Amino acid sequence: MKSPTRMPLVVANWKMNPTTSEEATRLFSAISASLKKTKATVVVAPPAIFLGALKQGMRKAPKHIALGAQNVHPLESGPHTGQLSVRMLYASGASYCIVGHSECRALGESDALVNAKVHALLKSRMTPILCVGELERDQSGKYYAVVETQVRASLHDVKKKDIEKVVIAYEPIWAISSGDGKGRTATPEDAHEMRLFIVKILTDLYGRTMAERVQILYGGSVNETNAEGIFTQSGVNGFLVGGAS
Ligand code: PGA
Repeated sequence: MKSPTRMPLVVANWKMNPTTSEEATRLFSAISASLKKTKATVVVAPPAIFLGALKQGMRKAPKHIALGAQNVHPLESGPHTGQLSVRMLYASGASYCIVGHSECRALGESDALVNAKVHALLKSRMTPILCVGELERDQSGKYYAVVETQVRASLHDVKKKDIEKVVIAYEPIWAISSGDGKGRTATPEDAHEMRLFIVKILTDLYGRTMAERVQILYGGSVNETNAEGIFTQSGVNGFLVGGAS
């Protein structure tokens, strides 16, 4: 198994938590203080409305901590009620942005829209964290095709020179804590086989050298108990963490 060569990346997806700016600031300060010596890049993705407040806290944060957004609109401006553009998020301190999260796909986000978001982010030098993952694992292995379609369609027209700027997060929906409520977690083998499969798709699209430069994360009920096993046994480059973050 090829071990990751880059610094691991851990993305904390706070989803719609906490409820106040004060709490978000407190949590962020506690995280930055406790991660001073961590050998990983840590991206905190709070609700966008708290980004500005956390940007202030970034001044005291170690260099390996960054801010991320949880979603973005692909256009720069216009009549798009409730939406935020790449530029707005960047100005608020975000340098990463999650796209294609299953909770957004469940509200109707298509691969084409995810693809437009990936392009908009790359254009502005923000790092897209592209989420892919199947709803269910079936005996006949159809879930591979689900993930392949998502990867190919979401990366449509992304150029070879840009692919290493994209982070891919494999998040099987059945293992996400908000998923089907059955509380299942993926095994290190599940994450390993899908990581290899995604590298194979990227190799088809961009060649092996570039494919191996893409950081692939695992997400879905990651916590302090299972993280080490998944990390060391699956070869993923890090995690996208929801509830436990
Ligand atoms: P979870 O969420 O860690 O709570 O399962 C992961 C995610 O939805 O990104």
